Amino acid sequence: MAGISIQNVYKNYGALNVLKEFSLDIADGEFVVLVGPSGCGKSTMLKILAGLEPASGGKILIGDRDVTDLAPGDRDIAMVFQNYALYPHLTVGQNIGFGLKMRGTPKAEIDKRVREVAKILAVDHLLERRPKALSGGQRQRVALGRAIVREPRAFLMDEPLSNLDAKLRVHTRAEISALHKRIGVTTVYVTHDQIEAMTMADRVVIMRDGVIQQIADPDTLFARPANLFVAGFIGSPGMNFLRATVEGGRLTLFGQTFDAPAGVGAGEVIVGIRPEHLALGQGNVTFTVKPVLVESLGSEKYVYFEPGAHAYAASRDEERGKGLIARIAHAGPIREGEELTLSFNASEIHLFDTKTEKAMN
Ligand SMILES: Nc1ncnc2c1ncn2[C@@H]1O[C@H](COP(=O)(O)OP(=O)(O)OP(=O)(O)O)[C@@H](O)[C@H]1O
Ligand SMILES: [Mg+2]
Repeated sequence: MAGISIQNVYKNYGALNVLKEFSLDIADGEFVVLVGPSGCGKSTMLKILAGLEPASGGKILIGDRDVTDLAPGDRDIAMVFQNYALYPHLTVGQNIGFGLKMRGTPKAEIDKRVREVAKILAVDHLLERRPKALSGGQRQRVALGRAIVREPRAFLMDEPLSNLDAKLRVHTRAEISALHKRIGVTTVYVTHDQIEAMTMADRVVIMRDGVIQQIADPDTLFARPANLFVAGFIGSPGMNFLRATVEGGRLTLFGQTFDAPAGVGAGEVIVGIRPEHLALGQGNVTFTVKPVLVESLGSEKYVYFEPGAHAYAASRDEERGKGLIARIAHAGPIREGEELTLSFNASEIHLFDTKTEKAMN
């Protein structure tokens, strides 16, 4: 086991600048998730860590060893990819033990290690089966077993759950987390799924166009997003963004004027309010809307309403097309087109600079 230090790594493919000054220190035993939209450079960073792709610049340490110029096999890390092809003609046990056999590990030792790992992953009753007789989740666990059995200093995982159906994904996600807690090997995990990132990570690294936007634990990311991108990326449905103006330390939204967060100067701002911070009925700041759409999810409702004069960047994501969203835990009927009283707490809003898009509070 070992920590990983990524220092000012960048990567160019010809003129394409895929990673820009990527720096990250991962503690020994930490579970770090890289998350971001498609094409932002997550897999590239992982391949550079694994040694499958050279960096264009920068340095990588695993433990206190500089591995920047080492071949993948000399880095002592194990990688689990999205396409975890198992050898179809080998049994589960042989698949798990394959890497050890190639290294000339004695048979008795292989058998012992395979059995231990299979037990941890609850595939010990499947050791004699072939991959085609396994479910998707079982295959995934065998692929994990193949990585774990080598007792690497670190795991690198690139979207290992993306081939699984939704239910199995949740199940295997929990298993990987539990496994990490048990064996505590430093793990770098790549996903574009924010729920996976939030539920599994000790710390999340949010990337956009090859640039780190924020590195923080899940709660901090949610409560204190560093900029508009992070604020919109984390949370589902996404944060509502509105345009508003601060004047004399006061902010006006939906016809209500209230104290702006301390230290915010006069001028235009982007206001962020999470859908779950909009409540039904009277509150700290109260206003009325006419819902244009109400979606019932059983335990809660998504109430869409028009931003009116506060409209901001309608194209930011597809949900914005339907207007602003209030996420209401309420069993009673809410009707489209009928006046509805909503409220929010002024202390729960986020303000962003219109130019830099950085958080102001
Ligand atoms: N071998 C290559 N040659 C040229 N460009 C590449 C190469 N590999 C990746 N890229 C480009 O680098 C960028 C980052 O790719 P990368 O695979 O790291 O994205 P990602 O964040 O893993 O995306 P996804 O979520 O879709 O897997 C993309 O624009 C991609 O087209
Ligand atoms: Mg990728």
